[in-house]
Amino acid sequence: MFENEKKIAAMEALKFVKNDMRIGIGTGSTAYYFIEGLSELVKKGLKITGIPTSKKSEELCRSFNIPVDYNIKDIDIDFDGADEFDLYGNLIKGGGGALVREKIVAYNSREFYVLVDHSKYSERLHKFPLPVEVLPFMSDKTLENIEKLGCKASFRDDKKFISDNGNYIIDCVFNYTDPELESQIKMIPGVVEVGIFRHLATKIFQGTIDGCKIIDIK
Ligand code: A5P
Repeated sequence: MFENEKKIAAMEALKFVKNDMRIGIGTGSTAYYFIEGLSELVKKGLKITGIPTSKKSEELCRSFNIPVDYNIKDIDIDFDGADEFDLYGNLIKGGGGALVREKIVAYNSREFYVLVDHSKYSERLHKFPLPVEVLPFMSDKTLENIEKLGCKASFRDDKKFISDNGNYIIDCVFNYTDPELESQIKMIPGVVEVGIFRHLATKIFQGTIDGCKIIDIK
């Protein structure tokens, strides 16, 4: 859905990639357009090193001959999609189940550029179920503990969905996903990571029918 807007956002963000940069490479359908566009630039001689946020994106990069290296300490810009974002640049991520690596890369990047179509905006986060990655060990109990925070939670694909890290994803439906919940959920033993990304995004590239809107997050 909104393929053209996703492409517009990805193409605009690509203008910020410069020679010799080390860049985070996200996961999902919007990130796909970014990777595809990046491969064209690499073909023309652009030199970058990519840090992909999932096995799938790594495979894509390799298939497009985009250099990949995980032993990079300084990442210039991370480029990734999101499932929902609010007025303050808080995000929900993990619709593709890659939230752990996505958060590690975003956290360790100087800039984090988020590429989205117009539908991802909400004044307050409430549309997209919050993904939480949990260890399989005693995960039924972990789910119960998460539900005590006021949501309806379920294992993605009845535990058939396994993350790149060998864990389950629990999708949590809150009436409103208060960004403050990030630390509360993370305190629960068994929780590996929470799909709330606060204070990480620095720019949002929002594709619209009229072109790309760039939102600077202060
Ligand atoms: C992957 O785990 C997610 O965080 C994606 O970045 C997010 O789901 C956005 O995906 P799309 O670009 O496919 O909407």
